[in-house]
Amino acid sequence: MQETMILGIETSCDETAAAIVCNGRRILSNVINSQIDIHRQFGGVVPEVASRKHVENIALVVEEAFSQAGLTQRDIQAVAVTNRPGLIGALLVGVSFAKSYAYASQKPLIAVNHLQGHIYANFLEHDNIAFPAICLVVSGGHTSLLYMSEPGRMEIIGETRDDAAGEAFDKVARFLKLGYPGGPAVQKAAEQGEAGRMVLPRVFLDRNDYEFSFSGLKTAAMNEWKKIERRGGASVYDMAAEFQSALVEVLVEKTIRAAAHYHAKSILMAGGVAANGALRTLMGQRSRDEGYEIYYPSLGLCTDNAAMIAGCAYNAYRLGQFAPLDLNAYPAARSL
Ligand code: KG4
Ligand code: ZN
Repeated sequence: MQETMILGIETSCDETAAAIVCNGRRILSNVINSQIDIHRQFGGVVPEVASRKHVENIALVVEEAFSQAGLTQRDIQAVAVTNRPGLIGALLVGVSFAKSYAYASQKPLIAVNHLQGHIYANFLEHDNIAFPAICLVVSGGHTSLLYMSEPGRMEIIGETRDDAAGEAFDKVARFLKLGYPGGPAVQKAAEQGEAGRMVLPRVFLDRNDYEFSFSGLKTAAMNEWKKIERRGGASVYDMAAEFQSALVEVLVEKTIRAAAHYHAKSILMAGGVAANGALRTLMGQRSRDEGYEIYYPSLGLCTDNAAMIAGCAYNAYRLGQFAPLDLNAYPAARSL
């Protein structure tokens, strides 16, 4: 069988990443240069700083991806790049680099939607996922529930009305001075605390739809924290545990309800927040109770990486869906 090697490039937020994946499946290299240490001093991603760092790093990261795979430019069949959604300045660095690379090496260019990339991370690692499926995409910028009737066919059935789940984790972590990035910091603090010692709302759980809202939960957590801090004796670990439970329970119950309504066989999770231990555990338990197969990527493939972009591009390659060399970047996803 002809082997198709695709170079993937990802610069939508604060990771400069490049990977080479064979036949949409075998990861030959997966290089990630994280800017976390730089943005930590600001308590969040500074878009202009992210763009500049991508410019400095991109060529080296791509070179490293080839070197780790033991391949050269001649060995790849296409160049894939994330061109939406994300920070516009950051996306443009990857898109400009990929276009120049494709032009210089005379390889076809493939544009990849970052969210489709996150979802594809499941297919990099798991065979025979049964359809229909419900997919929960939870990242720093997005929280959506999708109905997938078959591989590659998806429809958004619900989204957050305000903050994304990861954004809520990050903001609450900053408020509680737990560190950056917020998701892993809250998870770590929650492990030392107990949920239920203070009570936060399970927002929208009473609604019969697949919409989410995390801005209110974040504000409730902050107000409650100020109140109990004044009284004294408050445990930041208990607050982290209750916040994480309130958020995770809503994500899980709405996903399970959607799976029942759409007669799903499988539940998939994708995006940085899918790395959360409490979410993986509760979704796993509830899925098994209700008889759904549950899939999520391994930890390193949940957060931003380029292997998911190179893998996702394989189908487009087979279908000949190539992008023109005047490809642009877009901050919002127009559709999936
Ligand atoms: O998918 P991702 O790497 O970037 C975006 O596309 O946004 O997701 C980053 C988000 C951040 O908000 C981060 O705090 C969150 O994922 N995250 C987590 C965990 N690891 C990363 N949230 C909760 N628990 C985690 N273990
Ligand atoms: Zn992402």
